[in-house]
Amino acid sequence: MSERERTFVMIKPDAFARGLVGTVVSRLEDRGLNLVGMKVEILDEETAHEHYAEHEDKPFFDDLVDFITSGPVVPMVWEGEDATRQVRQMIGATDPLEADAGTIRGDYALDLGRNVVHAADHEDEGANEREIAIHFDEDELVSYEGHDETWLYE
Ligand code: CDP
Ligand code: MG
Repeated sequence: MSERERTFVMIKPDAFARGLVGTVVSRLEDRGLNLVGMKVEILDEETAHEHYAEHEDKPFFDDLVDFITSGPVVPMVWEGEDATRQVRQMIGATDPLEADAGTIRGDYALDLGRNVVHAADHEDEGANEREIAIHFDEDELVSYEGHDETWLYE
């Protein structure tokens, strides 16, 4: 049975600079997911390290931290049935060259290091709870029933 859940998504500095915030938000809204938290901020180095802790030992880590702290990002929390997997499918493969057309990365990105959007990984148990807690206090997230739920869910 499918689960209603919250998932962490973040618009990266490249997409912010390119004016793609509205586009990314629209895609997730249009799919039927509920936006329950959103802010604009510039990550400090400590937060960036925490956010990408799993990649600490990778050769691309320093560049990744430099990039993700280089300008405004838009951390968000979205809610819906199987939200984590739905969003991962919508953003597409990590490398835009591998991302299917129709996915966010497949439609708006060309380079692995400038791939527009981050989303918590459904294969990483606990990623949502961890990443939401890094970027949001619980009282910054809202709970509500969407007016269209009868038409989105059986
Ligand atoms: O973002 P996603 O979960 O799809 O991929 P990841 O494997 O968790 O990697 C995090 C981010 O590091 C990617 O989104 C890329 O921007 C970056 N990366 C990179 O610059 N070079 C790599 N070889 C792999 C990832
Ligand atoms: Mg990842």
